[in-house]
Amino acid sequence: MSMSTINVAIIGCGGISLQNHLPGLALCRDTRVTAVCDSNPTTLEAARQKTGATITSTRYEDIVTRDDIQAVIIATPNLLHPPIALAAIRHGKHVLCEKPLALNVGDAREMATAADHAGVRHMTAFTYRFVPAMRYLGHLIRQGELGQPYHYRSCRLQDWGTRNVGWRQIKQLAGTGELGDMLSHRIDFAQHLIGPMKRIVANVKNLTPLRDGQPNDTDDWVAILAEFIDGATGVLESSKLASGRNESWRSLDYVELNGSQASFEFTTGKWNELQYGKLGGPGMKPLPVPREFWTWPGSPRDPGAGDPMISFRYDQAFEFIDAIRNGRPCVPSFHDGARTQAVMDAAVRSADTRAWVDL
Ligand SMILES: NC(=O)c1ccc[n+]([C@@H]2O[C@H](COP(=O)([O-])OP(=O)(O)OC[C@H]3O[C@@H](n4cnc5c(N)ncnc54)[C@H](O)[C@@H]3O)[C@@H](O)[C@H]2O)c1
Repeated sequence: MSMSTINVAIIGCGGISLQNHLPGLALCRDTRVTAVCDSNPTTLEAARQKTGATITSTRYEDIVTRDDIQAVIIATPNLLHPPIALAAIRHGKHVLCEKPLALNVGDAREMATAADHAGVRHMTAFTYRFVPAMRYLGHLIRQGELGQPYHYRSCRLQDWGTRNVGWRQIKQLAGTGELGDMLSHRIDFAQHLIGPMKRIVANVKNLTPLRDGQPNDTDDWVAILAEFIDGATGVLESSKLASGRNESWRSLDYVELNGSQASFEFTTGKWNELQYGKLGGPGMKPLPVPREFWTWPGSPRDPGAGDPMISFRYDQAFEFIDAIRNGRPCVPSFHDGARTQAVMDAAVRSADTRAWVDL
């Protein structure tokens, strides 16, 4: 092992750790998954066998206190993100934490402040920032191609039916349902592309109080009407109950921006293409994403290897490790996670009070 090896601990070894974090870390040079932690002993043993990690524990406290770990990836149910992150930061670990960062904005801000004060790298896993078309869209907007932003629109429609979704349907563990699961990514897009929201009005709906016979007290559907500080408007909708629309990238994940000079449309299913229409022009036309945007800057990933609808996600771990190596901030950071959490909290409050909420 070279002196520059970064030893990573994965805390929470369920779906997303196996699908995204492990293959992402495998791309990073001189990086080892040294420790795995899961409260479920069977899941822990499967992760040990898969990673070859030499340190295992069912208790995160045993892992974050170790001197031979430099970085921690947190992929547990949402409730546990703040206590694990704060413990890891206290012991000087760099932290990549899954979204949503916390169950409320106070905790999310505390995580960001603690990480800044400790001088550790901190990153929120807003994975869709890594879609090549999304990065190209951000680039075009920064170049002024949109002109003055008028409208942001996102629509995320999946068919999860009424199946049991485990901890995701228990408010005490998840905080929210569709709002945190899916809309959190699109709130992040919106504020990344247009800037901060000023005020919102929202509604949430639970249409499946039982999922597979088990109680569900979270939202299946959420919609937000937003005003941005710069004057643009936003409409954001997300649902688990769009029957027949399939799931993940096979289902609708649509973002449209209308500005004074042009309109752009982005869908996750078209990873290397945008739709683009110029003011007064004949309508929306495909706009290919240039090759230099097919991978994150510096990422060693071969964009031709594997399914491009999955493999863009691996650049997220690269960004985390590269930021640690180069002592620079991660993108997106805990501050981005906290900005999204503020909008999520406002959405819940707005739905409760049936009123606009200032941010
Ligand atoms: N960025 C993305 O696109 C994306 C996608 C899916 C999930 N997520 C997020 O990742 C997180 C995990 O989601 P998932 O789908 O992998 O869930 P999962 O249920 O598959 O995995 C969670 C794991 O955490 C373990 N766990 C529970 N309590 C623990 C504790 N105290 N200590 C250690 N481990 C514990 C569970 O046993 C389980 O193995 C959630 O926050 C979710 O919102 C993000």
